[in-house]
Amino acid sequence: MHVINLRSDTQTFPTAKMLEAMTTAPLGDDTYDEDPTVHKLEAMAAALLGKEAALLTISGHMANLCALLAHAKPGEEVILDQDSHIFYYELGSMASVGGLMPFPIPSHNGALDPDEVRRAIRGRNLHYPVPRVLCLENTHNRSGGRSQSLEAHRAVCRVGREAGLKIHLDGARIFNAAVRHGVRAADFAAEVDSLMFCLSKGLSCPLGSLLVGSRDFIAEADRRRKLVGGGMRQAGVIAACGIVALEEMIERLADDHANARRLAEGIKAIPRLAVDLDSVETNMVNIDHAGAGLTTEEVVERLKRVGVLASSRPPRHIRLVTHRHYGPADIDEALGRIADAMR
Ligand SMILES: Cc1ncc(COP(=O)(O)O)c(C=O)c1O
Repeated sequence: MHVINLRSDTQTFPTAKMLEAMTTAPLGDDTYDEDPTVHKLEAMAAALLGKEAALLTISGHMANLCALLAHAKPGEEVILDQDSHIFYYELGSMASVGGLMPFPIPSHNGALDPDEVRRAIRGRNLHYPVPRVLCLENTHNRSGGRSQSLEAHRAVCRVGREAGLKIHLDGARIFNAAVRHGVRAADFAAEVDSLMFCLSKGLSCPLGSLLVGSRDFIAEADRRRKLVGGGMRQAGVIAACGIVALEEMIERLADDHANARRLAEGIKAIPRLAVDLDSVETNMVNIDHAGAGLTTEEVVERLKRVGVLASSRPPRHIRLVTHRHYGPADIDEALGRIADAMR
């Protein structure tokens, strides 16, 4: 039985073309700023997102951290969603490494409410930390891949800008958002000071993320990358995969979205499982298993026994993520197995 691994789009493997590109790319020492393949990828990323410059990092977490460290000084405040990846899953690194003060506020289906952001921005007062950065996330991981429209994005950015905040967008999956809304990723980027996107998710690279912004900002972020031990040498082997990803892997994300919808519609027909079809906007499906009377771990274990890997979102959800390794026939096979497992 072949395992259908739907835990995350991070589980994707590099394509044959990526592996070939790794072996033929011209290389240099990136810490000496001499790797031509890194230069090429960074220039492509900056152009694609409509920014002056870009910086390759090992991970999305590192790119987010470098951005925050470059935008704010110790003691300054970062307004962000309490369910954001940065707040929830990045070890509080903005506080432990950067001395930055997170100010978490709730999100609604993955989106910050402009009025709630406005209320969270404190005025200048002897007692208050200085608000410096507003963080957004699109698509939004913990809400199940929901993606804010360009209009909603613009409305919340306007609030941040009017208050003089720097705006950072965690766009780990920004191309999923762009494909979903039929706009350019650069349209989202135009509203923010910095944007991070990952090569290692639906774009199928083994590792790597890019941070984009102004030339001055990227120079500052480059120093922060060094500070956190993220300087690299012949990083062109990573960049070579990234170039293939930007050339070939973006448009096909629409297939992942169609497969997620197919999966969600199939799950809806399985007794004891529930899914909110409106919430399935990109490549993630959050499934409510409360009707099954099992713990999240028990559901994940049952699915594992039938060869479907899911991730847990306790206390009542599991998450399935579609990606390039599985087409409609695999999704139908997974649905059959899930129905058997829940019987
Ligand atoms: C929204 C979001 N931001 C950031 C990251 C961090 O990326 P990485 O795992 O490369 O550090 C992830 C990873 O899943 C993510 O989903």
